[in-house]
Amino acid sequence: MILPIIIAIVIISSIAACLAGLLNIAEYFFANYGPCEITINDDRKFTVEGGEKLLSVLINEKIFIPSACGGRGTCGLCKLKILEGGGTLLPTEEPYLEEYERQNNVRISCQVKIREDIKIEIPEELLNIKEYSCKCIEIADLTYDMKLFKFQLLEPDTIDFIAGQYIQLLTPIYEKSGEEVYRAYSVASDATQKNVIELIIRLMPGGICTTYCFEYLKVGDEIKLNGPYGDFRLSETNAPIVFIAGGSGMAPINCLLHQMKNENINRNAVYYFGANTVNDLFYLDEMKQFESQLADFKFVPVVAAADKDDSWDSESGLVTQAVERNLKNADQCEAYLCGSPGMIDASIEVLKKLGMNEKNIFFDKFE
Ligand code: FES
Repeated sequence: MILPIIIAIVIISSIAACLAGLLNIAEYFFANYGPCEITINDDRKFTVEGGEKLLSVLINEKIFIPSACGGRGTCGLCKLKILEGGGTLLPTEEPYLEEYERQNNVRISCQVKIREDIKIEIPEELLNIKEYSCKCIEIADLTYDMKLFKFQLLEPDTIDFIAGQYIQLLTPIYEKSGEEVYRAYSVASDATQKNVIELIIRLMPGGICTTYCFEYLKVGDEIKLNGPYGDFRLSETNAPIVFIAGGSGMAPINCLLHQMKNENINRNAVYYFGANTVNDLFYLDEMKQFESQLADFKFVPVVAAADKDDSWDSESGLVTQAVERNLKNADQCEAYLCGSPGMIDASIEVLKKLGMNEKNIFFDKFE
C-alpha cells in the first residue's frame, strides 16, 4: 500500500519539477518584458532590458552590493529595499529575511528578476563602493592549501578601508568557468597601506575563484576587485579581547592586529587560532612579532589532530576546548570570531556558557 503512494508522489513531484523547468526555459526564450526603468533613491534613473536579475543590472551600472556568494542565492547579503515593482517574495529569498525585513520590502536582489519598472533604495555608503583594477605582485605559499596573494592597486591606485572589512574579487571568464563571478575575501593587510591589498585564500576543490587564483593567476596579471564592505571591526571600548579564528579567518584578525599596533591600542588580547594539523598553521612568525610589538597580546595556536610525530607541545584539541580551558572572566571580555560557520557557532555557545554577553561577540562567517 505504501509503495504505490511513494511511486505516485515521486511521479507527481517529477512532473511538477519538469513543468517548472519548462516554464523557466519558456520564460528565458520567449518572455519579453521590454525596457524597464530602474530608479534608485528617487534620484538616479536608468533603463535596462527586462529579464535580468536586479543584482546583475546594478553591477553592470557599477553599483556594487555585497554579494559574497556571487549571486548564487546562498549568502543572503545582497539585501535591498524594493519600493515598487519587485513582484512577490520568492521561496529562495525567505530563509534570509527576518519578519521585519519582509514587512519593509527588503528583498534578496540576486533573486529578483526585472519584469517591470522598479524603484529601489540603496544606502548611501554602498553607492560609494568602487571598482579597482589591480596587478598581482606576489603569490606565496602559506600551507599546502593556503596562499597569500598581494595585489597592487592601479586605478584608482589607493583604497580606504577599515580594518576587518572585505573586498570582492572578480574572477574573469577562464577555461573552467564560462562566466565572471565575484567572491568575498577579508583583507589581511595593514589598512594604512593603501596601495596594496593582501588576501589569504584557501583552495576550495572545484571553487571557481580559488581554482583560478591557485592554477591560473600569475604574478603580473591584472584583475578587478570592488569594495570595501562589511562592519566587522574593533569596538572602541577597553574590554579585554578574545580573538578566535581558523584557516583563512586569520586574514581579518591579522588586519585588526595591525590596527592595534598602529593606533597603540593596549587592550589585553588573546588570539586562539585553530588548525587541524601542525601543517595547517601559518603566520607563526608574524604572530610572534605582534607579541613583541603589542603591549598585552598572546597568540595561542591550537592543533586538533596533533599526532605523536609532530612533537606538538602546545594546546591541542578543538579551538573551543582551548578557549574553555583558558578563558577567565569572559563576562568582562569582547570576542571577535572569524572562520567557518560551524566553528563560529560552536565558539558562540562556549563563550556564552563562560558568561560572555552575546552583544559583545562579533563575528565574520566565511560561508
Ligand atoms: S549574492 Fe548571495 S544571496 Fe544574493
